[in-house]
Amino acid sequence: MVLITVLTPGINQPLFFLRGAASTYACGVHQNGLLCHLHWGNSIAPNASLAGRLDKDVLAFSPEHRRPQPAVGKSGHDVLSYEYPVANTGDFREPALDILHADGTHGLRLLYSAHRVIAGKPALTGLPATYAETAAEAETLEIDLRDARESSAGGGLIVTLSYTVFAGRDVIVRSTRITNHGTAPVTLTRALSASVDLPGNRFDLLTLPGAWARERWVERGPLRSGTQFTGSRRGASSHQDHPFFALLAPTAGETQGEVRGFSLVYSGNHQGGAEVDQMFNTRALLGIHPDGFTWHLAPGETFQTPEVVLAYSQAGLGGLSAQYHRLYRERLVRGVWRDRERPILINNWEATYFDFTADKLAAIAKSAGAIGVELFVLDDGWFGRRNDDTSSLGDWFTDAAKLPAGLGDVGHRIQAEGLRFGLWFEPEMISTESDLYRAHPDWCLHIPGRARTEGRNQLVLDFSRPEVVDAVYAMVAKILREAPIGYVKWDMNRHLTEVGSASLPAERQGEVFHRHILGVYAFAERLVTEFPEILVEGCSGGGGRYDPGMLYYTPQVWCSDNTDAIARLRIQHGTSIVYPPCTMGAHVSAVPNHQLHRTTPLRTRGHVALAGQFGFELDLIDLDATDLAEAKDLTALAKRTRHLLRSGDHHRLLDPNTGNVAAWMLVAPDQGEAMVTAVLALAEPNWRLQPLRLRGLDPKALYRGVHGPAGEWTGDVLMELGLPLTALKQDFQSCLWHLRRV
Ligand code: GLA
Repeated sequence: MVLITVLTPGINQPLFFLRGAASTYACGVHQNGLLCHLHWGNSIAPNASLAGRLDKDVLAFSPEHRRPQPAVGKSGHDVLSYEYPVANTGDFREPALDILHADGTHGLRLLYSAHRVIAGKPALTGLPATYAETAAEAETLEIDLRDARESSAGGGLIVTLSYTVFAGRDVIVRSTRITNHGTAPVTLTRALSASVDLPGNRFDLLTLPGAWARERWVERGPLRSGTQFTGSRRGASSHQDHPFFALLAPTAGETQGEVRGFSLVYSGNHQGGAEVDQMFNTRALLGIHPDGFTWHLAPGETFQTPEVVLAYSQAGLGGLSAQYHRLYRERLVRGVWRDRERPILINNWEATYFDFTADKLAAIAKSAGAIGVELFVLDDGWFGRRNDDTSSLGDWFTDAAKLPAGLGDVGHRIQAEGLRFGLWFEPEMISTESDLYRAHPDWCLHIPGRARTEGRNQLVLDFSRPEVVDAVYAMVAKILREAPIGYVKWDMNRHLTEVGSASLPAERQGEVFHRHILGVYAFAERLVTEFPEILVEGCSGGGGRYDPGMLYYTPQVWCSDNTDAIARLRIQHGTSIVYPPCTMGAHVSAVPNHQLHRTTPLRTRGHVALAGQFGFELDLIDLDATDLAEAKDLTALAKRTRHLLRSGDHHRLLDPNTGNVAAWMLVAPDQGEAMVTAVLALAEPNWRLQPLRLRGLDPKALYRGVHGPAGEWTGDVLMELGLPLTALKQDFQSCLWHLRRV
């Protein structure tokens, strides 16, 4: 790592070099006082003469900037490469920041004022963030930029850009703080987390759009002139638009080529993407979506943006994913479950939906315990009077009609079968048919005089109000303190509408989206602090809030409500671009599949679920003897291989988007062990699959197949000639090898 500042000759302005394992991020102060971007890419040695590169020629129709006093140099505003571009200065490209001043005018001009270097990485108040465990792991550079407006006319804003570089990694974590040191309030109308101006436009933009039950499909295409943004205005990171994008060299592939990633550690509205300007240069930006966002900043107040994790690789998308996987697994996920092997679970949702009794749950747990499952999760329908999705959200007390002996009794019966007990909650929601709504009809997000739009028959609680968060937390925590609960599934099943809060004044209504998310994080922080031993799995109609923000509190996320093994291939492939497999909940469900009505072999469903945190989502009592034996074998295999999930390197071998076979592998950090999986979607006539070339092995080592097709192969043979795929002949067949160094 190591961050070096050098002073440019003559004008004594600093240049900053943040050095990753094999990359450098550099910026510096232009002679005009503006902070400009210099480089983000392969390693370069710090060099003061590079200051000259901050300058750009003036263009026709590009307003010039001269430093107010003394007037030195000039540069076209619309061509400079800025570190943090602002509105209404003559840079007509997409800004990162805009401010409405008390006098009704917009914009600002930021000049370098100071910087400091901090050992380690300071936490972000109220927000999830990557972290350093020791001061030696990371260094943080903070650069203060000052609005050049005279203070008598409403100046006084300080914008602090924060950059953390981690030892041994190629990531730079950026965020921004805006502090009002003036005497009048201002309103932020846009405050993105980071912006990077890159030379040239020869990039492909990769995004992960989707929908419910089809999350994070990979899309890739060349940048065009103008803006290309993706974003969510739903109040959640969402199934539809993911808070991540990458810019790839057009020739970059899975294992080679230059790739830059942008990942926002946030669970609410977001906007990200790129603008190609008139000189064919590219500006990439990411942060809170400006639509629906304003923030009233009174004198003395500070606004903190969420952080963006910038990752760089010369080794293609696979190299980029490796950067994200390692960082998110080791320094975003936290708590005792970060380093523990996770329990193999069974969830009753698709087995019973709302229709269950304590006896039925105990029977499912008994059959699961018999094949080695370790955790039983009671899903939706145990609370209030909830027999369908029309009621009871907000009434977090046990449904005495359905479970007359109480939740504690259910928990103890599950434990008697040798399993731990887990429970489903949807804390942010309220049904109009609930005691909570009857008592507090103004506790939901709403706008007076407007109809309240429902989604899945429910409204969203106003988590911008601390008293609402407190009340829901009290109910949830009471259940967790009283019943023997070791796991929580935290769901969130609709997006936000009529976003207004009964508790905020008019000038702060634009803050509700973000304050709501801060309330969600406050709830999560209390939960993991009071119940550190409880494993929390995130969920939002499947993978609708699978984002780095939630991963800070929930070490795993239910990847999708779509449990069809073949559909999951694309979903899990796209998810793996950013997220390590240890964060991905993946279960074996019944056939015909409940979402797609497709029938696939149990083994294939198992092999696909073994790509993530393995579990079941069906009634094992319905399985015949052969399938039950298979389920038992799969459970044992999951236990033998789950350490690879915790610490192994993941490689995407064959892409289900571009062929009819998907394949991936996990390799132990010491290369002594690997798990390789291949799944055939549709077979073709008179056609042989090419052998599957592996990656990441020790070329000289001899590997033996200890599960799957038998054989012994050297690492070089496996990587150069590949594993034969002769076993894959029919639709939906799969093959899994567990390899061990001999
Ligand atoms: C969401 C979740 C499912 C299940 C249901 C319960 O759809 O994604 O897994 O928990 O809610 O209502």
